[in-house]
Amino acid sequence: MKKITVIGAGNVGATCANVIAQKDLAREVVLVDIKEGVAEGKALDIWQTSSILNFNTKVTGVTNDYLKTKGSGVVVITSGIPRKPGMSRDDLIKTNAGIVKSVTEKVVRYSPDAIIIVVSNPLDIMTYTAFQAANKDSQKVFGMAGILDSGRYKAFIADALNVSPKGIHGLLLGGHGDTMVPLPRFTSVSGIPITDLLNQEELDSIVERTRKGGGELVKLMGTSAWYAPGAAAAQMVEAIVDDQKRMFPVCTCLKGHYGLKNVYLGVPVKLGSLGIEEIIELDLTDKEKKMLHDSADHVKKMMKTLDDMKIFANKNC
Ligand code: NAI
Ligand code: 2OP
Repeated sequence: MKKITVIGAGNVGATCANVIAQKDLAREVVLVDIKEGVAEGKALDIWQTSSILNFNTKVTGVTNDYLKTKGSGVVVITSGIPRKPGMSRDDLIKTNAGIVKSVTEKVVRYSPDAIIIVVSNPLDIMTYTAFQAANKDSQKVFGMAGILDSGRYKAFIADALNVSPKGIHGLLLGGHGDTMVPLPRFTSVSGIPITDLLNQEELDSIVERTRKGGGELVKLMGTSAWYAPGAAAAQMVEAIVDDQKRMFPVCTCLKGHYGLKNVYLGVPVKLGSLGIEEIIELDLTDKEKKMLHDSADHVKKMMKTLDDMKIFANKNC
């Protein structure tokens, strides 16, 4: 691919650009930030690792100059602010929706064919925001959370079993947050069902820790995580650039899938050069279905906050 853009040169955006460059996924990665000099500095720093780490991808940083992003094939949006003390979830939606709306409009102006991956929080709502602002098919506008959340789930399983994380396969559905739905029934280690390796109590504690995985890191570091989120977004970019058709949990618009409509939610999809090439529908138990629908209700309430702002024409996804 010729060009990939990452908006927001903070912790997640810079990490994502770094992984994209190290994997040599494009001729150029453009890092954009609103803060003067930050994207330029981080891009230069990453570029100076090219001869050490042996990659060719040119890394460029710009302050708010979207002309430099022109012709990008994939754009990752990480711009936004974290929730501050005293700030309600609705306040965060309002602030970040303004940021995501304005950057998406600029992205689309210069790269009308770009596939857009949203990372900014609250993830499901910001993905819906970008979809509205981009005015393109939801196949091309989706969000990153499931790869991160299942990465955390698999890391906890690897620790519990004292095995390599490499052979662990696992899946999560639902919104990014406490209502996410980890699925032990679809989890295995080198083909062995996880339920044969861990008892219910051990599994319940891993599922609970996964649900709260973001908060655990905020408590430790005073800010949210970036290594795993940045790498997870870069893995989605890789699947698109190399047309891998890999199956990942991704935040996408459901159009009747799982009995849900017009809601952005995490489900397994096939990711390739066209973006979301297929939404995979699993045969869920009644209990799993209920958890997914509860998660959808939670996300829909937050989507309504965005709709009530009336900054978009309320286009169904
Ligand atoms: P950060 O604060 O380190 O970086 C955000 C960057 O966005 C800052 O450099 C800021 O200057 C920039 N920015 C703000 N407004 C902008 C605009 N209009 N145009 C361009 N740049 C702008 O935050 P961090 O840690 O990188 O997180 C970024 C976002 O990703 C947050 O919303 C965070 O909650 C979210 N996140 C989502 C995850 C997920 O699983 N989806 C995981 C981790 C973080
Ligand atoms: C995370 O899960 C806060 O969404 C961020 O790390």
